[in-house]
Amino acid sequence: MVEMKVKILSNGPYIVTGNIPLYKIVMVSDEKGHATKFKKKETISHSSKYSLCRCGNSKNKPFCDGIHAHSDFNGEEIASKNIYKEKTRIFETDRYKLIDAIELCDHSRFCLREGGIRNLIKKGDFKSIAIAKKEAALCPSGRLLLWDKEKNISTEKTFDKEIVLIYDDEMNCEGPIWLKGKIPLESSNQELYEIRNRVTLCRCGKSKNKPFCDGNHWMDPEIEEKFRKKWDLD
Ligand code: FES
Repeated sequence: MVEMKVKILSNGPYIVTGNIPLYKIVMVSDEKGHATKFKKKETISHSSKYSLCRCGNSKNKPFCDGIHAHSDFNGEEIASKNIYKEKTRIFETDRYKLIDAIELCDHSRFCLREGGIRNLIKKGDFKSIAIAKKEAALCPSGRLLLWDKEKNISTEKTFDKEIVLIYDDEMNCEGPIWLKGKIPLESSNQELYEIRNRVTLCRCGKSKNKPFCDGNHWMDPEIEEKFRKKWDLD
């Protein structure tokens, strides 16, 4: 049996082996532009081994068509192999601990509604905590993990191994590739990244934290303008 794995090629695509199921999913946002949930995922047909575009220029997305070889795509991997172990910040109250790996943020905005996850945790009432738990659990990048210190449990869900392409209708753009269920991710120099339950990979080619998405798929003047208007930024 072929191992389920994602292997990164130097300045090239993600090579997926082991017949990992592939889906598309769309984020749903509220009137303020904060993401609240996902729509039902759609299946994308694929072979048992497939390659996913990493440079953002393929004419056969989400699959690679080899165009990276004819462009100036720089796929250099600069992210830490151990982000969660080494680079998290802690925010806590007597009852809850929020573990935050900020450099994994993929701008999916699940943690912003109802005043934001920190304010909700600070409030601490039943309803606020229920929303905070949802926000932490929905974050596809796995940036956020919420611990209940009294019960010693986290908001982490168990996922099957699957790959999901995120679409952001609100911002009218393609989001990252979501690896779910502890899929091993191997760098172009054969090192394994920390195996995590959820992680988001760049598929636009613009991330400054490759191979992970850093939200730079928003880097389009039209999208940025929309973002600024929505959140009243100057
Ligand atoms: S897909 Fe998010 S930065 Fe490239």
